[in-house]
Amino acid sequence: MRTKIVAGNWKMNLDVRASQTLAQEISEKIEKLETPNTRIIIAPTFTNLYPVYHHTRLDNRVEIAAQNMHQAKSGAFTGEISAEMLQSIGIKTVILGHSERRQYFNETDTALAEKMLTVLNNNMEAIFCFGEVLEERKAEKHFEVVKGQLSNALFHLSANDFKSIILAYEPVWAIGTGETATPEQAQEIHAFVRKVLADKYGKVVADQVSILYGGSVKASNAKEIFSQPDVDGGLIGGAALIADDFVKIIEGIL
Ligand code: PGA
Repeated sequence: MRTKIVAGNWKMNLDVRASQTLAQEISEKIEKLETPNTRIIIAPTFTNLYPVYHHTRLDNRVEIAAQNMHQAKSGAFTGEISAEMLQSIGIKTVILGHSERRQYFNETDTALAEKMLTVLNNNMEAIFCFGEVLEERKAEKHFEVVKGQLSNALFHLSANDFKSIILAYEPVWAIGTGETATPEQAQEIHAFVRKVLADKYGKVVADQVSILYGGSVKASNAKEIFSQPDVDGGLIGGAALIADDFVKIIEGIL
């Protein structure tokens, strides 16, 4: 059975105290929830990773992830963070390839391919994001775009490496816009991604990888999206900043 995952991407929001408060609220609210086969991940910004992870009393089901990471081991890369730095504070999961990184910080498939190797060489895990922009969807190029993003950034990896990869389909037109892909649109792409993986790595690998949907998931639509057979959870932006909403989204997958 594939692992179900609800991950909150806090983006560039919340100062240290607000991050700790939100993490603790989420933790307290899930205390009474049974969450079999389900991972709950939150991704605060870099400066808040350590205090949230080490100085906040959290239910041990709440996992902490980073939002980005540089591919190099160390060196003259002003403003960047390495795998070793994340590892040194106990962080093992990192979001990579988020569309905001691609769009505003020129993150390329080539850089992502290198980042993936760094993740794997450091025994870390990636939540790898991909998805088409509106013009590509309108031109019906979304399948081609998604396949290209996956093959460019991931297909140099081995089948075994996919044990350390969570995929997140995030159509850019649905991120932060209030517009969500319909459950059918999400399912269609998720099934396609699984087929692309099966063609390259075999059905066993394709069937074991968790594929999350991201893009305006809310308490009101989570359950319907998560009910699709190939949707294994969500990567949540805005709604992850409100404890009640995030917990309702988690309930949507149980
Ligand atoms: P959103 O963001 O839920 O605010 O649309 C999703 C994401 O960027 O991961």
